[in-house]
Amino acid sequence: MANPKYLSMNGEIVPFAEAKVHVLSPCVKYGAGVFEGIRGYWNAERKDMYLFRLREHLQRLHFSMNVMRFAHEIDSRKVENALIDLIKANELREDIHIRILVYVDGDGDMASTGPIGWSLSTLPAPTTKAVTEGVHCAVSSWRRINDNAMPARVKATANYNNGRLASLQGRLDGYDNVIMLTHLGRVAESPGSCFFMVRNGVPATPGVTSDILESITRDTVMRIFEEYLERKTEERDIDRTELYAAEESFFCGSGYEIQPVLSVDRHPVGTGVAGPLTRALQQKYFALVRGQATDHAAWRTPVYLPN
Ligand SMILES: Cc1ncc(COP(=O)(O)O)c(C=O)c1O
Repeated sequence: MANPKYLSMNGEIVPFAEAKVHVLSPCVKYGAGVFEGIRGYWNAERKDMYLFRLREHLQRLHFSMNVMRFAHEIDSRKVENALIDLIKANELREDIHIRILVYVDGDGDMASTGPIGWSLSTLPAPTTKAVTEGVHCAVSSWRRINDNAMPARVKATANYNNGRLASLQGRLDGYDNVIMLTHLGRVAESPGSCFFMVRNGVPATPGVTSDILESITRDTVMRIFEEYLERKTEERDIDRTELYAAEESFFCGSGYEIQPVLSVDRHPVGTGVAGPLTRALQQKYFALVRGQATDHAAWRTPVYLPN
């Protein structure tokens, strides 16, 4: 896919090739960065784009900066305006993925807390085959990072080395993705999404103390189950062998969207095709993010036709 014409750095639109940081910056040397991945959905009928749950993503970004003791607060309103300006500058009228990255710039050491830089990128991101068809997974032999060492609750770029190890191994072994277990051996999440299963008609997902990112999509999914599909989600520990017993399972995340899990360790999940509850959830999710369903308007920030 072609690179976008422009990116944004510290609130200024810059040509793609000019968005650079120094090799001696703490973000390069030590992974001193936090970020958010967000989606924008094009509504062809209304000719507008909606940024999904932008405010919640910005809140989590501030939480990550705070835990990592970044020196400067970044004004959310400024980020929102810069993001909308960038989408317009790139003339994007399709589904997109947005990355907001905040990093420790300069040439400091491991404990430097500033200066802080921030960048925005907006890339076309059509829905993938993983969403429409589903994925085959393995349980990774790599354990999920632990809250007392590298908190998964913080969306730090360095955390993703844990996910890289697991993903690369999974791919070499012939799987589309992996499910990672906590240090106690319970299900945590995938390298880039949260996990849900359905057992006896009841959706279940690991609790927020299971070394997961406190996912915004996870919250959206639980709300959809409760408000539209008459299902209350259990937030609880999930054992490995429950993955083999589930009728349905799926990954969810802003980037992943809703991806049916078709098999785990070569055990088919249910009948081995995306289940009816997963499909019903996908339908409602896409209607909401795209603004085809008009409820939950506060979840959608319009880009071209502000209210
Ligand atoms: C490790 C991890 N877990 C879960 C998620 C899902 O989080 P969200 O729904 O807020 O995008 C992501 C995606 O950002 C992730 O990287």
